[in-house]
Amino acid sequence: MELLKRKILDEGIVLSNQVLKVDSFLNHQIDPLLMQAIGKTFASLFRESAITKIITIESSGIAPAVMAGLELGVPVIFARKRKSLTLQDDLYTEKVYSFTKKEESEVSISRKLVSPVDRVLLIDDFLANGEAALAMARIVEQADATVAGIGIVIEKAFQNGALKLKEQGYRVESLARVASLENGSVEFAN
Ligand code: G4P
Ligand code: NA
Ligand code: NA
Repeated sequence: MELLKRKILDEGIVLSNQVLKVDSFLNHQIDPLLMQAIGKTFASLFRESAITKIITIESSGIAPAVMAGLELGVPVIFARKRKSLTLQDDLYTEKVYSFTKKEESEVSISRKLVSPVDRVLLIDDFLANGEAALAMARIVEQADATVAGIGIVIEKAFQNGALKLKEQGYRVESLARVASLENGSVEFAN
């Protein structure tokens, strides 16, 4: 997606060989027009997949997921990282191990929100090692629903997440694929 790549080149900050900071449009401040374009792109990629629901993980997946949901006309669920006051029981819960943060966390969604008839599009802001996406996929499978595809805003193609997801048979569509962050600069894959 050319608009997204241009934004990454203009505003992304390479923090290390592993980490790209995009706080000006995705992870802290959000660019609504860019998010709208991202939503339209996801919708066109998955229009024929008979999606009934989108699932993402709070917080940075929510903006692109909502825009895709708006375009596809389907509800958007964000998996919660903390048990909330009102969301306490009847949950599907999965563990997520973050290699970046070296810590394990849990994500949960209410069992009421997903059923076996659902064809789910998983959306996330970043794909690194794929652990968050795999946890979302396991939740969908716990519900006997179908993972119809995985949409990623920025894939770090030098990490193994996309490979892991594709090996499990999932269709992965990344709007920007970063091949390298070496020497402080962003190189895209084709
Ligand atoms: P994985 O799910 O692909 O295995 O990824 P990982 O554990 O490495 O990711 C942990 C958190 O770090 C996630 O955000 C993820 O989006 C983010 N992340 C990973 N690599 C990068 C990167 O290069 N740049 C940026 N900006 N973020 C990255 P999170 O903790 O779930 O937070 P939130 O942003 O959704 O609130
Ligand atoms: Na994130
Ligand atoms: Na995320």
